[in-house]
Amino acid sequence: MSQLTLKNLGKSFDETDVIHDVSLDVADGELVCLLGPSGSGKSTILRMVGGFEPPDRGSIIIGDHDVTHVPPERRPTGMVFQSHALWSHMSVAENIAFGLKLRRLSRADIREKVTNVLKLVGLDGYGARRVWQLSGGQQQRVAIARALVLEPKILLLDEPFASLDQHLRERLREELRDIQRRLGITTLFVTHGQDEALSLADRIVVLKSGKIEQVASPDRMYRDPQTRFVAGFIGSMNFIACDIRNGYADHPLFPIAVPVSDGPVELAIRPEALSIRPDTNSPARIHRTTDYGTHILVDITMPDGVRLKAMCPPSSAYKAGQPVALSADNVAIFRGEEKLATITPVASRSLTHA
Ligand SMILES: Nc1ncnc2c1ncn2[C@@H]1O[C@H](COP(=O)(O)OP(=O)(O)O)[C@@H](O)[C@H]1O
Ligand SMILES: [Mg+2]
Repeated sequence: MSQLTLKNLGKSFDETDVIHDVSLDVADGELVCLLGPSGSGKSTILRMVGGFEPPDRGSIIIGDHDVTHVPPERRPTGMVFQSHALWSHMSVAENIAFGLKLRRLSRADIREKVTNVLKLVGLDGYGARRVWQLSGGQQQRVAIARALVLEPKILLLDEPFASLDQHLRERLREELRDIQRRLGITTLFVTHGQDEALSLADRIVVLKSGKIEQVASPDRMYRDPQTRFVAGFIGSMNFIACDIRNGYADHPLFPIAVPVSDGPVELAIRPEALSIRPDTNSPARIHRTTDYGTHILVDITMPDGVRLKAMCPPSSAYKAGQPVALSADNVAIFRGEEKLATITPVASRSLTHA
C-alpha cells in the first residue's frame, strides 16, 4: 500500500512555477531520495509534504487521509532540517521532550521515550548534555531523535548531513539507514549528492527545474538513465557528440551501427564500460593516469580534443602519450534530452583512418 501520495503537485513563487506537476507514490516503509541540483525544488516539495508550504495545485495524501490543507502540527510527519535548529539553551533531553510535552504526555512516559530514542540514535546517556557541548554529528543525531520521538508515519529529512565532513556523513548515513529499516518508517530524504542517494535510497527521484526527470531504483538509475540530464548527473559519464549517417555513427573511433534515424546524437559511455588497448595506429592518446588503488582511471584525449575517462584494472601499466584503441560494451544514444537506444555490447571496429 502506498503510504504517501503526491498528486500533480504544483507551486509558484512570484508567478514563477518552481514545482511542475509532481506525482509520486511512496510505499509503506520505503526510503525515497529526492535528488537534484540546487534550486531544483527538493526542499519546496519536502516542505509541502510537511505542511510548511501550501501547494498551489494538486494534493498530498498520507495513508488514506488527504492532508493537503492540514497544518504541520497535525500531520503525521516529522521533519529534520539541514541546520538542525536545536534549542541551544536546552539540554539534549529537553530538546527531544519538547514535542512530547506539547502533546501532554506524563513525565514518566516522556522520560521513557526520550531514553529509548537516545539509545536508538546512539546517544545513550547524553540526555543531560547541553546542545553546544555536542559535535556536529551528535547534534544531527539529536535532531533526528527529536523527529522520531513523536513517532511520525513519515520522516522528512532535508540534507541533514550536508554540513558534516565526508567520513561522518557516510557513517551517519549508514546509521540512519539502519534505524529507518528497524522502525520501518516511510522516509523522504532530500539531497543534492548522488552518492548519498545511491547508497541510501530504495528509489531515487531525480528533479530538474521542479520537474521529475526519472524515478527508479539506484541500480536502474545508474544503468539505465532515461534522459541526458540523468545520464550526466548520476555517476561519471563520457559524452561523445557525432552524427548518425545511414545507421552508423560518423566517428573515427566509434564507427558503430546505431539503429536510429540520421542526425546529431551523443554517445554516452560509462568509464567502466570503456576499454582501451595499446594500438600504435590510434589517434586517441592517453593524457594522464590516476591510480586509485582499486582501479586506474585513464584520461584519454581524442583527435578532436575531447577527453574521455576509462576505468582500468589496478594492474594496468598505461603511460601518458601512449596511443590506444577504444571499445565500449554499453552505449546509450541521446538526441537532445531523449534516449533513443542502448547498444550492448559494442566492439568498436579497428580504426579506419589512413
Ligand atoms: N519562499 C520562496 N520565495 C521565492 N522563491 C522561492 C522560495 N522558496 C524557494 N524558492 C525558489 O524555488 C526554487 C526551488 O527552491 P528549493 O525548493 O529550495 O530548491 P532545492 O531545495 O532543490 O535547492 C528556487 O528557484 C528557489 O529560489
Ligand atoms: Mg534545498
